[in-house]
Amino acid sequence: MKTVKVGLLGMGTVGGGTVDILTNTISEIERRLGQTIEVAIIAVRDLNRPRAVDTTGITLTDNTADVVNHPDVDIVVELMGGTGLAKELLETALKNKKHVVTANKALIAEHGNELFALARENGVMINYEAAVAGGIPVIKAMREGLAGNEIEWVAGIINGTGNYILTEMKKPGADFAQVLKVAQELGYAEADPTFDVEGIDAAHKLTILASIAFGIELQFNKTYTEGISKITADDIRFADQLGYEIKHLGVASRAENGFSLRVHPTMVPKDVLIANVNGVMNAVMAKGNHVGPTMYYGPGAGAGPTASAVVADIIDTIRWQDQPQEDQVPGLGFRADQLESAPVVSIEEIETAYYIRCFAKDHAGVLAKVTGIMADSGISIEHVHQEPCQQNPDDATLVMITNTVKEAKINQAIAQLDGLADIDGEIMRIRIESLG
Ligand code: NAP
Ligand code: HSE
Repeated sequence: MKTVKVGLLGMGTVGGGTVDILTNTISEIERRLGQTIEVAIIAVRDLNRPRAVDTTGITLTDNTADVVNHPDVDIVVELMGGTGLAKELLETALKNKKHVVTANKALIAEHGNELFALARENGVMINYEAAVAGGIPVIKAMREGLAGNEIEWVAGIINGTGNYILTEMKKPGADFAQVLKVAQELGYAEADPTFDVEGIDAAHKLTILASIAFGIELQFNKTYTEGISKITADDIRFADQLGYEIKHLGVASRAENGFSLRVHPTMVPKDVLIANVNGVMNAVMAKGNHVGPTMYYGPGAGAGPTASAVVADIIDTIRWQDQPQEDQVPGLGFRADQLESAPVVSIEEIETAYYIRCFAKDHAGVLAKVTGIMADSGISIEHVHQEPCQQNPDDATLVMITNTVKEAKINQAIAQLDGLADIDGEIMRIRIESLG
């Protein structure tokens, strides 16, 4: 049986899971592939760190260059993270005509355009299934399974840590910092967990999904990003009372003059399937013009699920490597010379309904001023609720649900509300999506 040798950059959560699969499930993989896969070399930062997986027979090094320059390695598997050293190493690997498999969404979203071009020049592939939604084979589903459709929109819960936090925060007395610590211990969080909490990780993944969906270049710097750190227990309670769940969604859609790419907390009606995706689970919905709405669900982070996607990519790479390049599935699913150039539009252009929550002085006439500003901005209010503010006895908490309106109008109204002496603290705005 032919042996394909791989070299790993990193053996942490995902790298450890990958070695585990390639050790303990290798006979099943051989039955599928007709070839065997051997991990020849792994680079880590600290050679003295105890490892949870058995590395007997594998060369361990703290010199990353040994992996990308190894003469026997056919596929370099990058599982170390970051966009500095990881990028340099993969450039060397590609120039050395080695295929690349990576779980690094930051690297693909921010530098994928250059890396795919370099891979084409050198006649090799980059595969990155594990970079989006952990164990869910959503890249394959969209790039290949939906290839007969024009994709209308994609929306997803694509950060396991954030969804885990939002789910745990529904439990009485849950503490944000404590819940995040557990997510880190479970191996879900990024090296810098603000990437999870502030939506940067989800924006990396949405950037990739949008490119695959619409056949556009990767444009991370145009993706609007808003985190979940300002969501309060009260917002979660109000959403619940109004029949919604708050989810941290990435949404990519076709807009009037281009495409809209955005990551933000979103209120989703409870009876929509994705509203019931909890814990570390992820779900990606994609609507194709022929298939209609579809949904892909599964664990979005952690060693086993992510390594499952990494190993599937290694197998695909081996299967495709002998095909002429033009017969391989292109990196973004569309031929590189066929990418669309329509722009990613500003968040001000989107139209949705909104949840607005603010603290207002509990005086006669204040509600009239607030609703007057909304009316003057052309925003109609579908629901209003007022109750005593628990934080400040002089204030009332005011919650409004608007009709569907352009974001620019909501921004204008919020700026005016902010200027009122009767409004205290920050005004919370959560976009509402029906995902029908
Ligand atoms: P991790 O647990 O922190 O592991 C990183 C590994 O890279 C460690 O083995 C580390 O060595 C090694 N490393 C880092 N810098 C290095 C350097 N300069 N030289 C040599 N080795 C170096 O990270 P992870 O959670 O597995 O994530 C890896 C990648 O997968 C990231 O791009 C992440 O975004 C992505 N990802 C993670 C998940 C998840 O659930 N964790 C899911 C999907 C995608 P030491 O062990 O010696 O420190
Ligand atoms: N930190 C990421 C998450 C890992 O929580 O979703 C999976 O990409």
